[in-house]
Amino acid sequence: MNHLGSPFLRLIGLVFLFSCKPGPLVPTDERLYVPTTTLKAQADYRVGVAIQSGKLSDTAFADLITKEFSSLTAENQMKQGIMMPASGVFDFSEGDVIVDFAQANGLRVHGHALIWHSSLPIWFDTYSGTNAQFEQITKTYIQTTVTHFKGRVASWDVVNEAFDDDSRQLRNSIFRQKMGDDYVEKCFQWAHEADPDALLFYNDYGLEYDDKKRSAVVDMINDFKARNIPIHGFGFQMHINHNWPGKGTLSNAVNTLAATGLQIHFSEIDVRANPNNDLAELTLNRAKSQEDRYREIAALFKTIPVSQQFGMTFWGLTDNESWLIPFWGNIDWPLLFDANKGYKIAHRGMIEGM
Ligand code: XIL
Repeated sequence: MNHLGSPFLRLIGLVFLFSCKPGPLVPTDERLYVPTTTLKAQADYRVGVAIQSGKLSDTAFADLITKEFSSLTAENQMKQGIMMPASGVFDFSEGDVIVDFAQANGLRVHGHALIWHSSLPIWFDTYSGTNAQFEQITKTYIQTTVTHFKGRVASWDVVNEAFDDDSRQLRNSIFRQKMGDDYVEKCFQWAHEADPDALLFYNDYGLEYDDKKRSAVVDMINDFKARNIPIHGFGFQMHINHNWPGKGTLSNAVNTLAATGLQIHFSEIDVRANPNNDLAELTLNRAKSQEDRYREIAALFKTIPVSQQFGMTFWGLTDNESWLIPFWGNIDWPLLFDANKGYKIAHRGMIEGM
């Protein structure tokens, strides 16, 4: 008798096969969950992520980007250090990789950042020509870049982090030293000349909790508006912690800047879960605290008048690639996806808050 044909053995086989099915859908790890919708489907505004161009060749990475997001930003490839590597030389190739991918997949691109004291090519940071030459190079750089991406990049962070911390003063950057206190408005004007359709943003950190810096930015915006200097929006970077700053502080900051009438971008969101370096792994409690914070961020964005809701951008996709880890020098899990691209409950917090 053929044993494989015996009804009894076939039944045993079936039971065996059934028990070998892939595990239950609900992850056993309670720090993860099974999403029922995506960020871009849930939000009434654009939801973006900052990425490194090199990652787009990873299909799983690219798929998750197009599934969840409706806007893209280059984490580094559209900064001056990369786009202007030598005097008179421009390199947009890596930026183009990101912009081409975005276009092919229907994502908006937010350009970051034309002028930032911290992304300069060494030759320019140590420039020894005259101030007038420095200014001319800056103008040419802004206009060549904005023209190159014209029609493909919807908006730009024109100037990033121009103000000192806990102060109403402009940071004494090389731009201020060589071009004077009105360098910020010059940059906005040059960008606007190159692409009158692009929305132009001022972007900074600390606006969420630093009252002096925030009031300096509000004054600058109101002054620009009064003098018809083209400025359309500003970015709260939103590098915050799971437990700081308080909800009231955040909401006061957002209300104050919303009163300018400009577009509002939560531009570099991440939430440190381990700011005091007391954890070696993300505990469930801490993951829940982070989830609550993400829910708050999304709910806060909804308090902005709809016509001013430009969108939000997360500063990275997966925890292990966050810039915060090398920056602060300790382990952390600040983003919505874990190192295996698993959906953290932080994602659920965002979805619920939206
Ligand atoms: C960071 C990138 O994430 C890092 O990879 C890079 O080494 C340094 O810059 N504020 C900004 C961003 O405006 O451009 C910074 O991005 C993070 C802080």
